[in-house]
Amino acid sequence: MARFRFRTPWATALRLGRMIKSGEHRDKDKGILTDVFSGDDGFRLEQGGLDTYQGFRHQEPNLVSIVDGKPEMAKNLDALVFRIKGIPIGAVSYLVQRNTHKSPPKDFYGRIDIVIVPGSARGAGLGRLLLLSANLVMLRGHGSSLYSISCLAAHPAVAAVLESMGYTPARRENTSFVHEELRLEGEDWQNLERDFSIRLRQSFQQVRYSLRQQIVNG
Ligand SMILES: CC(C)(COP(=O)(O)OP(=O)(O)OC[C@H]1O[C@@H](n2cnc3c(N)ncnc32)[C@H](O)[C@@H]1OP(=O)(O)O)[C@@H](O)C(=O)NCCC(=O)NCCS
Repeated sequence: MARFRFRTPWATALRLGRMIKSGEHRDKDKGILTDVFSGDDGFRLEQGGLDTYQGFRHQEPNLVSIVDGKPEMAKNLDALVFRIKGIPIGAVSYLVQRNTHKSPPKDFYGRIDIVIVPGSARGAGLGRLLLLSANLVMLRGHGSSLYSISCLAAHPAVAAVLESMGYTPARRENTSFVHEELRLEGEDWQNLERDFSIRLRQSFQQVRYSLRQQIVNG
């Protein structure tokens, strides 16, 4: 099957460049994974950006969240927002939850809920960067107690990225998503954490290069 690669349209790339050049917002001090997202060019990852994430979600009304209609689960939802000079350019929601049917130490699971990159910024590697980031945040925060991280991938790009990270797909009948799971029981999560850190650094370099080109051209 041929793989479709998004190309950012020229006009929208220009718009993104102008938007970032004129950005006057300041980053809030909630930076995360700062060992990776370092540098003084305003490229940052922020944790706790649920409002910003909800703003992106309103632009994609067809997406279904695992916490819709589940207020208890919704309490655990968190979000990562990628910003350039304070301007949000993509977000991913995720949660870590305890399974009361399991015994410690491996009695928590992680879920990647929804990843969204606005149309003007697609194809630059941000989806991959956000998915790697969410995995890394969960592993660094809860690695020793996680038995699994999963996602209902509603977009082929999400499934492709997760599978390249070691997730196993399971297509469920009569659904429009693919269940993707990274099993962590019996796995060396610290080794995985190191591997994802390296991948995220590479991904960030690629995104930074790609978006800088757009900003320069804009
Ligand atoms: C899904 C989405 C987040 C991807 O964001 P993005 O920034 O364009 O993704 P990336 O540029 O990081 O691309 C990720 C990978 O997927 C690949 N890809 C893109 N579209 C694809 C497709 N239709 N089928 C298979 N692979 C695809 C890319 O080639 C890239 O692979 P590579 O890194 O090996 O080159 C974005 O399209 C989006 O926000 N869509 C609307 C919301 C949505 O459906 N979210 C998913 C809900 S779970």
